Amino acid sequence: MTAEYKVNGDVAVITLANPPVNGLGLATRQGITEGLAKAQADDSVKAIVITGAGKAFSGGADIKEFGTPKALQEPNLLSVIAAVENSAKPVVAAIHSVCMGGGLELALGCHYRVVAPGTSIALPEVKLGLLPGAGGTQRLPRVLGVETALNMIVSGEAVKSELLAAAPGQKLFDKVAASPGSLMDEAISFARSVAGQGAALPRVRDLPCKHPQGDAYFGFARNMVKGMAKNYPAPVKCVDAVEAATKLKFDAGMAEERRLFIELMMTPESSALRHLFMAERAASRIPDVAEDTPKREIRSVGVIGAGTMGGGISMNFLNAGIPVRILEMKQEALDRGVATIRKNYESQVKRGKLKQDKYDERMALLSTTLNYDDLRDCDLVIEAVFEELGVKEAVFKELDRVAKPGAILASNTSTLDVDKIAAFTQRPQDVVGMHFFSPANVMKLLEVVRGKETAKDVLATVMALAKKIKKTAVVSGVCDGFIGNRMIEQYSRQAGFLLDEGATPEQVDKAMEKFGMAMGPFRMGDLAGNDIGWAIRKRRATERADMKYSRTADKLCELGRFGQKTGAGWYDYQAGKRDAIPSPVVVELIEKHRKDEGITPRQIADEELEQRLVYALVNEGAHILEDGIATKSGDIDMVYLTGYGFPIWRGGPMHYAGQVGLYNVAESMRRFARNPRDDGKFWEPAPLIQKLVAEGKSFD
Ligand code: 3HC
Ligand code: NAI
Repeated sequence: MTAEYKVNGDVAVITLANPPVNGLGLATRQGITEGLAKAQADDSVKAIVITGAGKAFSGGADIKEFGTPKALQEPNLLSVIAAVENSAKPVVAAIHSVCMGGGLELALGCHYRVVAPGTSIALPEVKLGLLPGAGGTQRLPRVLGVETALNMIVSGEAVKSELLAAAPGQKLFDKVAASPGSLMDEAISFARSVAGQGAALPRVRDLPCKHPQGDAYFGFARNMVKGMAKNYPAPVKCVDAVEAATKLKFDAGMAEERRLFIELMMTPESSALRHLFMAERAASRIPDVAEDTPKREIRSVGVIGAGTMGGGISMNFLNAGIPVRILEMKQEALDRGVATIRKNYESQVKRGKLKQDKYDERMALLSTTLNYDDLRDCDLVIEAVFEELGVKEAVFKELDRVAKPGAILASNTSTLDVDKIAAFTQRPQDVVGMHFFSPANVMKLLEVVRGKETAKDVLATVMALAKKIKKTAVVSGVCDGFIGNRMIEQYSRQAGFLLDEGATPEQVDKAMEKFGMAMGPFRMGDLAGNDIGWAIRKRRATERADMKYSRTADKLCELGRFGQKTGAGWYDYQAGKRDAIPSPVVVELIEKHRKDEGITPRQIADEELEQRLVYALVNEGAHILEDGIATKSGDIDMVYLTGYGFPIWRGGPMHYAGQVGLYNVAESMRRFARNPRDDGKFWEPAPLIQKLVAEGKSFD
């Protein structure tokens, strides 16, 4: 049983006890109804208090139960709330810390609510692509007014209890406790004070729910929400449900809420958002690293290299209040790097995003040096120097000489072998890859590259540190490109073949942007620099001569068209602007290339463009799982959602493939295999895909 029942004099206390956040799973729901029944049967009990153990009143319905038979099994949340509301003895919710989703709906079913200051109150279901499905859309407007309630429901954002308690006319809280520590005593006294009053118990459902200009207001709200959430169906349904609260009788409104909730539960968008919620949290768990692994303390960080990456990486730690010392080879490089950091912060101050005192605090945490000995006290050193193994070797040998025992030595390399880098030191167990994405102070993704000797406590420390600097960390094994870039290489290869066969860069980019990618592959190439892929292909020519590429990208680079930085790439750019203008030079280049190769171009439908690019990611993702480079498909999705602009509402490439159905994905791959441009192997479904298809499973 995950709810405890205790009697305190004449008050029964039901305490939800389902760590970590008292999710309202089946056993907890049973615990509540059984507690209620006991309290009704006990004549000495005059009132009931419901509260939550630990760090939450309740985080809401148990998300882990969604889609399982338990979610539907009685008593479901609606039945529990009905039992609370129909209790003959007054029920008081003692709310603290976090009261969200179904937790708030449960509290709204209680006759009275006493709240601790500082409690986060929310109906965050919209963030899971849902709407509150246990009366939230019908009861919250009755206690907070339609507009405040709708804002909370559509945004899903938490509001502090004291703010809501201060709202004129609010009926959400009957009492605010003096402090979290006194909440239970105050709630029990309150329960006693309302027990046996004889009058009918107050029920939120009986309160009126009206808006003076309902039609105009809801019309306006619906238009606003539609404009802001065009790929998400839930926010508009939230408006529909709250409007129903104002127009229908309570029970009819509840039925309408239920209908909309079930409709949303079936949408691919909700499935994607729920997957994201779980995958994000699961990413920080590493199968063979126990959660209680002791972590090393990181009180100061050294960064080597004050270039593009070194500066951004430093800012992450400064933002988190951790002192940073940057090392460079020359004073000018240091000055340039510090000036860039300063400029970045100053622009935040100008835009009102950062207060002056915070800016001063952050800059005061930054120091610089030209001398390795000054890094001797750092708990973590991150190297971000030129991408050449020889340069990395010199740096890591120096680090090995000066760093204190137990210091973590990290490399931000994007392509080099972390095991080789670790072998430059006498302490490979302390070496790890920390692959930030550019701009490093903005991008959420951090690939944590686990070398074959990386110690478990180093991994545990870096994963915890990532949270502190607000990054989504995903563990990758050592391989060329790690998770993200290894997959993007296949995506880019496929994009090249599409040009050979008849597509234009613009057509491909438009199709992928319509699919939801933040940027199509060619605009992305222009942004990152086409010379990066060129260098990789040159390397491949010796390492993997069997791997075929379209020659269009090489020909583009031979013209010096590296992208935005050279003012021309797959597109033309005007000075100082980022707009991609289709280029006649590129069209000519591609057409000539086709002629040289004897290709007759064909019209390629957007659907084929989209499928070939996304399934190229999926197939390589499957190989990455087979090779043990990623341990969970959700990790791959997190990489793509946070680092590569994959549309959130599609849940990442691996989840999306499951939505399409792996059987369908594999069939499409077989159809594409007739494509003569690749090396004949590109579209062979990965063995893992074939196995999952045979078992009728998906990656999830
Ligand atoms: N059900 C089950 N588990 C939940 C949960 C929930 N509603 N909310 C959080 N958890 C779990 C997380 O999965 C995580 O588990 P893990 O440690 O095994 O990875 C753990 O609780 C801690 O979560 P966080 O890392 O997010 O911890 P924080 O302290 O940062 O945040 C929180 C706590 C504010 C409760 C945050 O977890 C949160 O926002 N949760 C989602 C709340 C939510 O969306 N509720 C609505 C659910 S849908 C619903 O109620 C439908 C109803 O209307 C019918
Ligand atoms: P950069 O060229 O902007 O900066 C490198 C800096 O390192 C320069 O300031 C240089 O003076 C300094 N440096 C070189 N050798 C040094 C040495 N021996 N000691 C001290 N300082 C030295 O390069 P960038 O883009 O910052 O890349 C750095 C690393 O980050 C590379 O390994 C790169 O592969 C990786 N990376 C780059 C990304 C990007 O988008 N630019 C993304 C992710 C990783």
